[in-house]
Amino acid sequence: MKILITGGAGFIGSHLAAYFINDNEVFILDNLSTGHRSNVDFIDDAHFIEEDVMHKSFVTELIKQKQFDIVIHLAAVVSVVETINNPINSQSINIDSTLNLLEANRQYNAKLKKFIFASSAAVYGNTDELPKQIETFIDPESPYAIEKYAGEQYAKLYNKLYDLPTTALRFFNVYGPRQDPSSPYSGVLSIMDKNLKTMNPLHFLETVSKLETLST
Ligand SMILES: NC(=O)c1ccc[n+]([C@@H]2O[C@H](COP(=O)([O-])OP(=O)(O)OC[C@H]3O[C@@H](n4cnc5c(N)ncnc54)[C@H](O)[C@@H]3O)[C@@H](O)[C@H]2O)c1
Repeated sequence: MKILITGGAGFIGSHLAAYFINDNEVFILDNLSTGHRSNVDFIDDAHFIEEDVMHKSFVTELIKQKQFDIVIHLAAVVSVVETINNPINSQSINIDSTLNLLEANRQYNAKLKKFIFASSAAVYGNTDELPKQIETFIDPESPYAIEKYAGEQYAKLYNKLYDLPTTALRFFNVYGPRQDPSSPYSGVLSIMDKNLKTMNPLHFLETVSKLETLST
């Protein structure tokens, strides 16, 4: 199958690309803002598209030409803090580009078998209920959370209105190899792991205090 992974040079996307590469034709679209070309050195240049997902006409043309079977949309402003500092910019990446991708597939890609949107546990905010369920009260506490909620609801709506085969997944704290613990946007688990290994109690305490702001 022909698969497009937006944000495929990042942490989660590079693992997905590695998973699919043997039996599928995998394309990656990434502007390398937080991702790295070296994460996906098994993808040749013909299948690596260094481009911004906000480049609407380019993305629409790509969908039209390539007729992907599967589109996995991961490209996003992933930092909660960055969305708080610059919500106008983040909403155009996190919402507008999602809507554009959905629309391009609706209009021009009859071959689409699945569109997957990366949402986040952040949509639940800090509500007490555990474990979180699909029905758990939604209480976004950042532009990031609102943008993820909008993206997943658009995906749902495109299924209802236009029968587009969409799915949204609410990732919690994903962690593992290739997650950059030195990045200020890194998930809290990789930062805790790094600080536990270096046994620096001060850093460890800083990490724990980050728990409240870094739950993407
Ligand atoms: N890692 C987690 O625990 C977690 C939790 C919840 C949701 N998510 C979501 O999963 C997705 C992937 O997250 P990740 O942890 O792999 O992050 P990441 O930063 O490693 O990957 C994001 C990728 O998107 C690319 N990108 C960002 N803006 C772009 C743009 N405008 N155009 C093209 N490419 C762009 C980056 O260069 C990067 O390669 C994101 O949508 C994120 O919000 C992740």
